[in-house]
Amino acid sequence: MYRLLFDLVLRRTDPEKAHAGTFALIRTVAAVPLLRDVVAAVLGAPRDSSFGMWGRSWPSRLGLAAGFDKDAHGVLGMAMMGFGFVEIGTVTALPQPGNEPPRLWRLVDRRALRNRMGFNNAGAEAVAAHLRRLRATRRGRAAVVGVNIGKSRVTPLERAADDYATSARLLAPYADYLVVNVSSPNTPNLRDLQAVESLRPVLEAVRVAADEATTAAHRAPVPLLVKIAPDLSDDDVDAVADLVAELGLEGVVAVNTTIAHDEGPGGLSGPPLLARGLDVVARLRDRLGPAAVIIGVGGISTGADAREYLAVGATLVEAYTGLIYEGPFFARRITHALAADERRAG
Ligand SMILES: Cc1cc2nc3c(=O)[nH]c(=O)nc-3n(C[C@H](O)[C@H](O)[C@H](O)COP(=O)(O)O)c2cc1C
Repeated sequence: MYRLLFDLVLRRTDPEKAHAGTFALIRTVAAVPLLRDVVAAVLGAPRDSSFGMWGRSWPSRLGLAAGFDKDAHGVLGMAMMGFGFVEIGTVTALPQPGNEPPRLWRLVDRRALRNRMGFNNAGAEAVAAHLRRLRATRRGRAAVVGVNIGKSRVTPLERAADDYATSARLLAPYADYLVVNVSSPNTPNLRDLQAVESLRPVLEAVRVAADEATTAAHRAPVPLLVKIAPDLSDDDVDAVADLVAELGLEGVVAVNTTIAHDEGPGGLSGPPLLARGLDVVARLRDRLGPAAVIIGVGGISTGADAREYLAVGATLVEAYTGLIYEGPFFARRITHALAADERRAG
Protein backbone atom coordinates (compact mmCIF):
# COMPACT_ATOMS: atom_id res chain seq x y z
CA MET A 1 0.00 0.00 0.00
CA TYR A 2 2.69 2.48 1.07
CA ARG A 3 4.87 1.25 -1.81
CA LEU A 4 2.09 2.28 -4.21
CA LEU A 5 1.58 5.65 -2.53
CA PHE A 6 5.33 6.19 -2.57
CA ASP A 7 5.68 5.27 -6.25
CA LEU A 8 2.62 7.17 -7.44
CA VAL A 9 2.80 10.29 -5.30
CA LEU A 10 5.63 10.73 -2.86
CA ARG A 11 8.58 9.99 -5.13
CA ARG A 12 7.23 12.52 -7.64
CA THR A 13 6.99 15.18 -4.91
CA ASP A 14 9.92 17.35 -3.87
CA PRO A 15 11.46 15.45 -0.92
CA GLU A 16 11.36 18.40 1.47
CA LYS A 17 7.71 19.13 0.61
CA ALA A 18 6.83 15.46 1.05
CA HIS A 19 8.48 15.54 4.47
CA ALA A 20 6.67 18.72 5.51
CA GLY A 21 3.33 17.35 4.28
CA THR A 22 3.53 13.93 5.91
CA PHE A 23 4.89 15.40 9.16
CA ALA A 24 2.01 17.92 9.26
CA LEU A 25 -0.46 15.07 8.69
CA ILE A 26 1.07 13.05 11.54
CA ARG A 27 0.85 16.04 13.89
CA THR A 28 -2.76 16.65 12.90
CA VAL A 29 -3.74 13.04 13.60
CA ALA A 30 -1.86 13.17 16.92
CA ALA A 31 -3.99 16.15 17.96
CA VAL A 32 -7.27 14.21 17.63
CA PRO A 33 -7.76 12.27 20.89
CA LEU A 34 -9.59 9.11 19.82
CA LEU A 35 -7.88 8.82 16.46
CA ARG A 36 -4.41 9.16 17.94
CA ASP A 37 -5.16 6.45 20.48
CA VAL A 38 -6.23 4.06 17.73
CA VAL A 39 -3.14 4.82 15.61
CA ALA A 40 -0.87 4.50 18.64
CA ALA A 41 -2.49 1.18 19.57
CA VAL A 42 -1.92 -0.18 16.05
CA LEU A 43 1.61 1.13 15.55
CA GLY A 44 2.94 0.94 19.11
CA ALA A 45 5.54 -1.51 20.36
CA PRO A 46 4.41 -4.65 22.22
CA ARG A 47 4.00 -3.97 25.95
CA ASP A 48 6.84 -6.27 26.89
CA SER A 49 9.28 -4.12 24.85
CA SER A 50 9.44 -1.53 27.62
CA PHE A 51 12.42 -1.33 29.93
CA GLY A 52 13.94 1.05 32.47
CA MET A 53 17.03 3.19 31.95
CA TRP A 54 18.30 6.52 33.26
CA GLY A 55 15.51 6.65 35.81
CA ARG A 56 12.63 6.33 33.42
CA SER A 57 10.57 3.91 31.41
CA TRP A 58 11.30 3.47 27.66
CA PRO A 59 8.55 1.97 25.46
CA SER A 60 11.06 0.23 23.16
CA ARG A 61 14.68 0.31 21.97
CA LEU A 62 13.82 1.96 18.64
CA GLY A 63 13.98 5.74 18.39
CA LEU A 64 13.59 8.33 15.67
CA ALA A 65 17.00 9.69 14.65
CA ALA A 66 17.86 13.40 14.73
CA GLY A 67 16.95 15.59 11.78
CA PHE A 68 13.34 14.51 11.28
CA ASP A 69 11.88 16.72 14.03
CA LYS A 70 14.46 19.48 14.24
CA ASP A 71 12.33 21.91 16.25
CA ALA A 72 10.49 19.49 18.57
CA HIS A 73 7.17 20.16 16.87
CA GLY A 74 5.99 16.60 16.59
CA VAL A 75 7.33 14.49 19.45
CA LEU A 76 3.90 13.14 20.40
CA GLY A 77 3.13 12.45 16.74
CA MET A 78 6.29 10.43 16.25
CA ALA A 79 5.69 8.56 19.50
CA MET A 80 2.22 7.76 18.11
CA MET A 81 3.95 6.38 15.00
CA GLY A 82 5.55 3.71 17.19
CA PHE A 83 8.93 5.18 18.08
CA GLY A 84 9.95 4.51 21.67
CA PHE A 85 11.85 7.78 21.83
CA VAL A 86 12.51 10.81 19.66
CA GLU A 87 15.86 12.57 19.25
CA ILE A 88 14.93 16.14 18.31
CA GLY A 89 17.32 18.60 16.61
CA THR A 90 19.90 19.36 15.62
CA VAL A 91 19.27 22.59 17.52
CA THR A 92 21.79 25.44 17.37
CA ALA A 93 22.17 28.34 19.81
CA LEU A 94 21.01 30.79 17.14
CA PRO A 95 18.02 30.26 14.82
CA GLN A 96 19.17 29.67 11.23
CA PRO A 97 17.58 28.91 7.85
CA GLY A 98 20.02 26.19 6.74
CA ASN A 99 21.33 25.89 3.20
CA GLU A 100 19.49 27.06 0.10
CA PRO A 101 17.19 24.38 -1.40
CA PRO A 102 17.46 21.99 -3.08
CA ARG A 103 19.13 20.31 -0.15
CA LEU A 104 17.46 16.90 0.13
CA TRP A 105 17.50 14.20 -2.57
CA ARG A 106 16.22 10.62 -2.85
CA LEU A 107 18.37 7.87 -4.29
CA VAL A 108 15.42 5.56 -4.81
CA ASP A 109 17.41 2.66 -6.31
CA ARG A 110 19.57 2.48 -3.18
CA ARG A 111 16.69 3.35 -0.82
CA ALA A 112 19.01 6.10 0.42
CA LEU A 113 18.81 9.86 0.96
CA ARG A 114 21.37 12.58 0.45
CA ASN A 115 21.05 15.83 2.35
CA ARG A 116 22.84 19.12 2.83
CA MET A 117 20.21 20.72 5.05
CA GLY A 118 22.75 22.67 7.14
CA PHE A 119 20.99 22.67 10.52
CA ASN A 120 17.84 24.59 9.57
CA ASN A 121 16.17 25.12 12.96
CA ALA A 122 14.32 27.62 15.12
CA GLY A 123 17.20 28.06 17.59
CA ALA A 124 17.65 26.89 21.17
CA GLU A 125 15.36 29.45 22.79
CA ALA A 126 12.37 28.67 20.55
CA VAL A 127 12.90 24.91 20.79
CA ALA A 128 13.20 25.18 24.58
CA ALA A 129 9.79 26.88 24.56
CA HIS A 130 8.33 24.00 22.50
CA LEU A 131 9.77 21.48 24.94
CA ARG A 132 8.58 23.43 27.97
CA ARG A 133 5.04 23.28 26.57
CA LEU A 134 5.43 19.56 25.82
CA ARG A 135 6.68 18.80 29.33
CA ALA A 136 3.79 20.74 30.88
CA THR A 137 1.45 17.91 29.82
CA ARG A 138 1.23 14.39 31.22
CA ARG A 139 1.65 12.82 27.80
CA GLY A 140 4.55 15.11 27.05
CA ARG A 141 6.32 14.09 30.23
CA ALA A 142 5.79 10.42 29.38
CA ALA A 143 7.56 10.83 26.02
CA VAL A 144 11.28 10.01 25.96
CA VAL A 145 13.07 12.90 24.26
CA GLY A 146 16.73 13.18 23.30
CA VAL A 147 18.00 16.64 22.39
CA ASN A 148 20.71 16.90 19.75
CA ILE A 149 22.71 20.14 19.73
CA GLY A 150 25.09 21.55 17.12
CA LYS A 151 27.14 24.65 16.40
CA SER A 152 25.54 27.75 14.88
CA ARG A 153 26.94 28.35 11.42
CA VAL A 154 28.12 31.90 12.16
CA THR A 155 30.02 30.91 15.29
CA PRO A 156 33.73 30.41 14.57
CA LEU A 157 35.18 27.03 15.50
CA GLU A 158 37.27 28.60 18.31
CA ARG A 159 34.07 29.72 20.03
CA ALA A 160 32.24 26.43 19.50
CA ALA A 161 32.31 25.46 23.19
CA ASP A 162 30.34 28.59 24.20
CA ASP A 163 27.82 28.05 21.42
CA TYR A 164 27.14 24.44 22.43
CA ALA A 165 27.04 25.45 26.10
CA THR A 166 24.34 28.04 25.37
CA SER A 167 22.14 25.38 23.78
CA ALA A 168 22.87 22.92 26.58
CA ARG A 169 21.88 25.45 29.23
CA LEU A 170 18.56 26.20 27.53
CA LEU A 171 17.61 22.65 26.56
CA ALA A 172 19.04 20.29 29.20
CA PRO A 173 16.14 20.77 31.67
CA TYR A 174 13.74 19.20 29.16
CA ALA A 175 15.96 16.42 27.80
CA ASP A 176 16.10 12.76 28.75
CA TYR A 177 19.51 12.71 27.08
CA LEU A 178 21.66 15.30 25.34
CA VAL A 179 23.70 14.61 22.20
CA VAL A 180 26.64 16.76 21.14
CA ASN A 181 26.61 16.55 17.37
CA VAL A 182 30.08 17.09 15.90
CA SER A 183 29.52 14.95 12.84
CA SER A 184 27.22 16.73 10.39
CA PRO A 185 28.94 17.20 7.02
CA ASN A 186 26.84 20.30 6.25
CA THR A 187 28.26 22.92 8.60
CA PRO A 188 31.70 23.94 7.36
CA ASN A 189 34.52 22.37 9.43
CA LEU A 190 32.13 21.07 12.11
CA ARG A 191 33.58 17.59 11.89
CA ASP A 192 37.03 18.93 12.83
CA LEU A 193 35.58 19.10 16.34
CA GLN A 194 35.76 15.28 16.45
CA ALA A 195 39.54 15.55 16.99
CA VAL A 196 39.90 14.93 20.71
CA GLU A 197 41.86 18.10 21.44
CA SER A 198 38.98 20.15 19.96
CA LEU A 199 36.24 17.90 21.33
CA ARG A 200 37.41 17.94 24.95
CA PRO A 201 36.65 21.65 25.66
CA VAL A 202 33.27 21.36 23.93
CA LEU A 203 32.20 18.35 25.97
CA GLU A 204 33.53 19.86 29.20
CA ALA A 205 31.65 23.13 28.59
CA VAL A 206 28.43 21.27 27.73
CA ARG A 207 28.73 19.09 30.85
CA VAL A 208 29.11 22.16 33.10
CA ALA A 209 26.32 24.14 31.42
CA ALA A 210 23.90 21.20 31.43
CA ASP A 211 24.62 20.43 35.09
CA GLU A 212 24.07 24.05 36.14
CA ALA A 213 20.77 24.14 34.26
CA THR A 214 19.41 20.85 35.61
CA THR A 215 20.49 21.71 39.16
CA ALA A 216 18.65 25.04 38.91
CA ALA A 217 15.58 23.16 37.63
CA HIS A 218 15.83 20.61 40.50
CA ARG A 219 16.38 17.80 38.04
CA ALA A 220 18.87 14.96 37.90
CA PRO A 221 21.93 15.50 35.66
CA VAL A 222 21.12 14.76 32.02
CA PRO A 223 22.99 11.88 30.32
CA LEU A 224 25.44 13.24 27.75
CA LEU A 225 26.46 11.49 24.52
CA VAL A 226 28.49 12.48 21.47
CA LYS A 227 27.44 11.71 17.88
CA ILE A 228 30.18 10.70 15.46
CA ALA A 229 30.63 10.25 11.73
CA PRO A 230 31.10 6.91 9.95
CA ASP A 231 34.02 8.49 8.09
CA LEU A 232 36.29 8.61 11.16
CA SER A 233 39.24 6.24 11.00
CA ASP A 234 39.20 3.34 13.46
CA ASP A 235 41.92 5.07 15.48
CA ASP A 236 39.82 8.22 15.71
CA VAL A 237 36.79 6.20 16.83
CA ASP A 238 38.97 4.71 19.59
CA ALA A 239 40.24 8.18 20.55
CA VAL A 240 36.69 9.52 20.90
CA ALA A 241 35.73 6.46 22.95
CA ASP A 242 38.69 7.03 25.27
CA LEU A 243 37.71 10.68 25.73
CA VAL A 244 34.10 9.67 26.47
CA ALA A 245 35.36 7.27 29.14
CA GLU A 246 37.82 9.79 30.57
CA LEU A 247 35.18 12.52 30.90
CA GLY A 248 32.60 10.09 32.30
CA LEU A 249 30.09 10.71 29.52
CA GLU A 250 27.21 8.25 29.22
CA GLY A 251 27.93 7.18 25.66
CA VAL A 252 28.04 7.64 21.90
CA VAL A 253 25.55 7.89 19.04
CA ALA A 254 26.99 6.22 15.94
CA VAL A 255 26.70 7.09 13.08
CA ASN A 256 25.81 10.28 11.23
CA THR A 257 25.59 10.47 7.41
CA THR A 258 28.66 9.70 5.30
CA ILE A 259 30.53 11.87 2.82
CA ALA A 260 32.21 8.78 1.32
CA HIS A 261 30.12 8.74 -1.88
CA ASP A 262 30.12 10.34 -5.31
CA GLU A 263 26.47 11.36 -5.56
CA GLY A 264 27.06 15.10 -5.13
CA PRO A 265 27.29 17.39 -2.10
CA GLY A 266 25.93 16.41 1.31
CA GLY A 267 25.74 13.34 3.50
CA LEU A 268 24.35 9.97 2.46
CA SER A 269 22.00 7.98 4.72
CA GLY A 270 20.22 4.65 4.48
CA PRO A 271 21.42 1.12 3.61
CA PRO A 272 24.86 2.21 2.30
CA LEU A 273 25.68 3.14 5.94
CA LEU A 274 24.77 -0.16 7.54
CA ALA A 275 28.08 -2.05 7.31
CA ARG A 276 30.23 0.81 8.61
CA GLY A 277 27.66 1.71 11.27
CA LEU A 278 27.81 -1.84 12.64
CA ASP A 279 31.62 -1.77 12.58
CA VAL A 280 31.77 1.48 14.51
CA VAL A 281 29.27 0.30 17.13
CA ALA A 282 31.17 -2.97 17.61
CA ARG A 283 34.42 -1.07 17.99
CA LEU A 284 32.91 1.37 20.48
CA ARG A 285 31.45 -1.45 22.58
CA ASP A 286 34.80 -3.17 22.65
CA ARG A 287 36.58 -0.02 23.73
CA LEU A 288 33.99 1.39 26.17
CA GLY A 289 33.02 -1.80 27.99
CA PRO A 290 29.54 -2.90 29.04
CA ALA A 291 28.39 0.15 31.02
CA ALA A 292 28.36 2.76 28.24
CA VAL A 293 25.19 3.48 26.30
CA ILE A 294 25.69 3.17 22.55
CA ILE A 295 22.94 4.28 20.20
CA GLY A 296 23.33 2.49 16.86
CA VAL A 297 22.00 4.37 13.83
CA GLY A 298 22.61 4.10 10.11
CA GLY A 299 20.90 2.05 7.46
CA ILE A 300 18.25 0.28 9.52
CA SER A 301 15.40 -0.80 7.21
CA THR A 302 14.28 -4.06 8.81
CA GLY A 303 14.01 -5.83 12.12
CA ALA A 304 17.05 -7.88 11.12
CA ASP A 305 19.14 -4.70 10.69
CA ALA A 306 18.11 -3.44 14.13
CA ARG A 307 18.82 -6.87 15.63
CA GLU A 308 22.35 -6.75 14.16
CA TYR A 309 23.05 -3.42 15.81
CA LEU A 310 21.91 -4.81 19.16
CA ALA A 311 23.95 -7.97 18.60
CA VAL A 312 27.20 -6.05 18.04
CA GLY A 313 26.66 -3.97 21.15
CA ALA A 314 24.13 -1.18 20.63
CA THR A 315 21.96 -0.41 23.67
CA LEU A 316 19.36 1.42 21.58
CA VAL A 317 18.85 1.96 17.86
CA GLU A 318 17.53 4.88 15.83
CA ALA A 319 16.45 5.31 12.22
CA TYR A 320 15.38 8.02 9.80
CA THR A 321 15.77 7.00 6.14
CA GLY A 322 14.08 3.62 6.63
CA LEU A 323 10.89 5.39 7.69
CA ILE A 324 10.81 7.38 4.44
CA TYR A 325 11.01 4.25 2.27
CA GLU A 326 9.09 1.79 4.45
CA GLY A 327 6.23 4.05 5.51
CA PRO A 328 3.92 4.19 8.53
CA PHE A 329 4.36 0.57 9.63
CA PHE A 330 8.14 0.91 9.78
CA ALA A 331 8.52 1.28 13.56
CA ARG A 332 5.89 -1.37 14.25
CA ARG A 333 7.65 -3.94 12.07
CA ILE A 334 10.94 -3.35 13.83
CA THR A 335 9.70 -3.26 17.42
CA HIS A 336 7.60 -6.38 16.84
CA ALA A 337 10.54 -8.22 15.29
CA LEU A 338 12.76 -7.29 18.24
CA ALA A 339 10.12 -8.31 20.76
CA ALA A 340 9.71 -11.68 19.04
CA ASP A 341 13.49 -12.21 19.33
CA GLU A 342 13.44 -11.44 23.02
CA ARG A 343 10.57 -13.81 23.65
CA ARG A 344 12.41 -16.56 21.78
CA ALA A 345 15.53 -15.88 23.83
CA GLY A 346 13.39 -16.12 26.96
C1 LIG B 1 17.30 14.75 5.89
C2 LIG B 1 18.18 14.36 7.04
C3 LIG B 1 18.49 15.30 8.00
C4 LIG B 1 19.32 14.97 9.06
N1 LIG B 1 19.59 15.90 10.03
C5 LIG B 1 20.35 15.57 11.09
C6 LIG B 1 20.59 16.51 12.12
O1 LIG B 1 20.10 17.63 12.12
N2 LIG B 1 21.40 16.12 13.14
C7 LIG B 1 21.95 14.86 13.22
O2 LIG B 1 22.65 14.57 14.19
N3 LIG B 1 21.72 13.95 12.26
C8 LIG B 1 20.94 14.28 11.22
N4 LIG B 1 20.69 13.34 10.25
C9 LIG B 1 21.34 12.03 10.35
C10 LIG B 1 20.45 10.97 11.00
O3 LIG B 1 20.14 11.32 12.33
C11 LIG B 1 21.16 9.60 10.99
O4 LIG B 1 22.33 9.68 11.78
C12 LIG B 1 21.54 9.15 9.59
O5 LIG B 1 20.57 9.54 8.64
C13 LIG B 1 21.72 7.65 9.51
O6 LIG B 1 20.53 6.98 9.83
P1 LIG B 1 19.50 6.39 8.71
O7 LIG B 1 20.33 5.62 7.73
O8 LIG B 1 18.53 5.59 9.48
O9 LIG B 1 18.88 7.59 8.07
C14 LIG B 1 19.86 13.65 9.17
C15 LIG B 1 19.54 12.72 8.19
C16 LIG B 1 18.70 13.03 7.13
C17 LIG B 1 18.38 12.00 6.13
